[in-house]
Amino acid sequence: MAENNKFEVENLDLFYGEFQALKSITMDIEANKVTAFIGPSGCGKSTFLRTLNRMNDLIDTVRIDGEIKLDGQDIYKKDVDVTDLRRRVGMVFQKPNPFPMSIYDNVVYGPRAQGIKDKKKLDEIAESSLRAAALWDEVKDKLNKSGLALSGGQQQRLCIARTIAMKPEIILMDEPTSALDPIATLKVEQLMEELKKEYTIVIVTHSMQQAARISDTTAFFLMGELIEMGDTNDIFSNPKKQQTEDYITGRFG
Ligand SMILES: Nc1ncnc2c1ncn2[C@@H]1O[C@H](COP(=O)(O)OP(=O)(O)OP(=O)(O)O)[C@@H](O)[C@H]1O
Ligand SMILES: [Mg+2]
Repeated sequence: MAENNKFEVENLDLFYGEFQALKSITMDIEANKVTAFIGPSGCGKSTFLRTLNRMNDLIDTVRIDGEIKLDGQDIYKKDVDVTDLRRRVGMVFQKPNPFPMSIYDNVVYGPRAQGIKDKKKLDEIAESSLRAAALWDEVKDKLNKSGLALSGGQQQRLCIARTIAMKPEIILMDEPTSALDPIATLKVEQLMEELKKEYTIVIVTHSMQQAARISDTTAFFLMGELIEMGDTNDIFSNPKKQQTEDYITGRFG
């Protein structure tokens, strides 16, 4: 295993019933980098993202072949603790989905579920997670207010704080800014720049500008296949494959 690889995916096929949504995907995802997945709607970006923390297990028609290793360990082996895997590989969704409870309770939900009861410890987790999500200053005086009363951009950062509170190693984000205005988007993008110092980030985005701004590595998918992956600057300025060039220049998709 190359030392800086977090994930190593080999020949991954995924079927929804008869339909093959992912075709022999092989890729490495490097630690402490932002990796962006781009490609037209329906090409399999979200499906592939969900294979990285076994969220597809929740869909009963799904069948998977191939291998995904996290730190060298096969995450689809029978004895893998899926709850622990999902703690290590956190996920932020397209639509902010705070729980209907206070800001504070949202952030410490996971640690509490893990059995942490000490108030001081929970306070620390809440503050450090909200700081890491660049939300602390905006909410520190209203931690007992409902998470649902925040703006969309604040809700998304609350969801990021909730993920961070679990001390994940990797954060998967599926179009995390698509429901946000440009200012909130900018805040979340700046946050990613900070977060990658400590975490490995994988983001699905429909915005090529966003991929170009925030990612180190870009992977281009088309109809279930990984067409090309590489340094983000190379993918956007000097793609090797015609299909990549057609997509990034807007000729299709
Ligand atoms: N639960 C499901 N059951 C059956 N087919 C599915 C399911 N989820 C996705 N698919 C199919 O798998 C393919 C890939 O879907 P996926 O959601 O991964 O695409 P995507 O690249 O994330 O698209 P978008 O950019 O629109 O979000 C599509 O053809 C889709 O219809
Ligand atoms: Mg999707």
